[in-house]
Amino acid sequence: MSKIELDLSRATRLLQPGPVALVTAKFKNKANVFLAAWVTNVSNDPPLVALAVYPARFTHDLIQKSGQFALNIPPRPLLEKVKKIAETSGEDVDKFVTNKLTLYEAKQVNAPLIVECVGHLECGVVDTVRAGNHTLFLAEIVAASAEELAFDGERWTLADASVKPLHHLGRSAYAVLEKIEG
Ligand SMILES: Cc1cc2nc3c(=O)[nH]c(=O)nc-3n(C[C@H](O)[C@H](O)[C@H](O)COP(=O)(O)O)c2cc1C
Repeated sequence: MSKIELDLSRATRLLQPGPVALVTAKFKNKANVFLAAWVTNVSNDPPLVALAVYPARFTHDLIQKSGQFALNIPPRPLLEKVKKIAETSGEDVDKFVTNKLTLYEAKQVNAPLIVECVGHLECGVVDTVRAGNHTLFLAEIVAASAEELAFDGERWTLADASVKPLHHLGRSAYAVLEKIEG
């Protein structure tokens, strides 16, 4: 993998087509990862995202207590691991170990980044809203990077099947985008 730093004014483009994200967070010596589909852009200046997390998720308290998280965008080859990450809780297992994920340090937040993912948004929580049965974490993107082949600095390239981001259609169905039109 060869990752490029992204201009923060373009960082929200990683979420433009609505991929799923592997959300990592760490508080004290406990780190975890969970799968989120309910994540979206809400502002580009400053770059803000919103992440909805059900309070019973183990990751919920890690984000609430640390005020930080990272969104790691998994590519198609990670699909089986993505499913396993969504089926288990960090309360019971170390999902980084059971899914053989390789971690590295983020630049601006104290949450691990996942080498096998193709895009990374490091986020600092700026507001927390109770939204129905979920907590909405409103967060500023403070650093962003992406795999060069997957994202050219402006947009997803869809250049190669191995680096296309994953999208969730509902239930157990996932999809990848076919090609760029227009
Ligand atoms: C496709 C998919 C999308 C999901 N999106 C979210 C989400 O946006 N927010 C959430 O709180 N849980 C979501 N979940 C559920 C969590 O990923 C799942 O409960 C996970 O095991 C929680 O892990 P944790 O307890 O280690 O934090 C999703 C599950 C699937 C299968």
